[in-house]
Amino acid sequence: MDRRTFLKTAAIGSIATGFGASLASAEQYFPVKVDQSLFATINRVKDQAKKTPLEKSHAPMISAPASVKAGEPFTVEVSIGEKLHGMSPSHWIENIELAVGNEPAGKIEMQPKGYLQPKATFTVVLPKETAPSGKVTLIASQRCNLHGYWESSIDVSVG
Ligand SMILES: [Fe+2]
Repeated sequence: MDRRTFLKTAAIGSIATGFGASLASAEQYFPVKVDQSLFATINRVKDQAKKTPLEKSHAPMISAPASVKAGEPFTVEVSIGEKLHGMSPSHWIENIELAVGNEPAGKIEMQPKGYLQPKATFTVVLPKETAPSGKVTLIASQRCNLHGYWESSIDVSVG
């Protein structure tokens, strides 16, 4: 191989290597194609009697007393999915959030290490003025890294 051919081959080789490397890192960041429409809106269960598999595994399940006393703490448990959603490094629940009506109450962030399960317990106190109608809507939401934003709500009577 003369010097000129060697240089040409080496240049082509390094371009190919560079392209290959950037493709590999892109694949690392985006291992799975996602449905972008799930991230463009807040997803909710459309028909409680006929949940889709995605709704069953992603809609927050909220457990709270039907009626509470104003000013007294009570427990709200939020589980992600009817059967808890998985927590693996490539597919996990990033956070669970609780809101009282339109007011954010709190948020738990989770890492994709598998130490935590996507379930959170909040201790909530509702002052009388939060429920002028005698009722408050609790909204639980979550973000799955592959399946977007999900929200569920329940009404609690405040006496
Ligand atoms: Fe998911």
